[in-house]
Amino acid sequence: MPETINPLRYPGAKRSLVGYIDALLEANNLLGCTFYEPYAGSAAVGLELLQRNRIGHLVLCEKDILLYAFWHCVFHDTEALCNLIEVTPITIDTWLQQLPYREMTQLDQAPLIELAFAGLFFNRTNFSGILMANPIGGINQTSKYTIDCRFNKAKIVAIINQLAAFRDRVDVHLGDALQFMRTQNARFQQEDCFAYFDPPYYVKGSKIYRHYYTNQDHIALSQYVRGAHRLDWIISYDDDPFICGLYGDTGARYQPFFLDYTCASRVRTQGQELLISNLPLPPFPVANAAQM
Ligand SMILES: C[S@@+](CC[C@H](N)C(=O)[O-])C[C@H]1O[C@@H](n2cnc3c(N)ncnc32)[C@H](O)[C@@H]1O
Repeated sequence: MPETINPLRYPGAKRSLVGYIDALLEANNLLGCTFYEPYAGSAAVGLELLQRNRIGHLVLCEKDILLYAFWHCVFHDTEALCNLIEVTPITIDTWLQQLPYREMTQLDQAPLIELAFAGLFFNRTNFSGILMANPIGGINQTSKYTIDCRFNKAKIVAIINQLAAFRDRVDVHLGDALQFMRTQNARFQQEDCFAYFDPPYYVKGSKIYRHYYTNQDHIALSQYVRGAHRLDWIISYDDDPFICGLYGDTGARYQPFFLDYTCASRVRTQGQELLISNLPLPPFPVANAAQM
């Protein structure tokens, strides 16, 4: 298996679910399927399944224009994006120059390539990869950690070039996940399709993402999957009674998991999370997941 590669360090990235979802696809004859990740973020699951050649096609949707622009340019303006990475100094001055991009809400406010670079830049220079956070080391750079400590240009460029080789098997869309999914019914009829929904966290979503969900939005997702035909799906969530209540009467299966468990520490620093699916869910193999 090739080394896992992802150019983003995204909060809530679900890389530890790759093996589990891979096995779920295999158990349900869905290898080679068209895999939807409509809350893309770093698309950690879909991109790794694609690199493992376990899915045929990856369809991403993301509402944040900086992330959308980044993924679009990874696949369709690779050289320009890599050039910008190579020539731009990773400094507080650059961070300040990039700030206006964080205020933009429409694609026509700046060239896509500039939005793409801003998305990557804030992801890799801010605390915890949070786009609206402050830079690592603070504005005054008084910490031993400096703004460029997570920005290994050569490695990021190599990863982007490796991913770009999959450009014919990836579609990237900008917009609302559920609106987008409602446009895809014809494809669900024609192809084996599977959707991995990883919506903004119920409790902490507003602290880590620029777009997050209200209770009504969470309800809308549960209603969408309730009515989804010819589409198999899995959702990952923070484990909260409100969320469980939305799926109680859908016939969906539940499986708890811990995202932050590692073999080395055997310590869990975050709460339990939940998988919900219309497919039978095997137990979560904690040890295996930690080794991935
Ligand atoms: C939990 S994160 C996804 C993390 C991703 N699974 C990964 O591995 O990196 C949720 C993502 O949904 C995006 N988002 C929020 N509201 C959205 C919406 N209405 N439609 C599509 N994406 C949305 C956020 O910007 C965020 O990137």
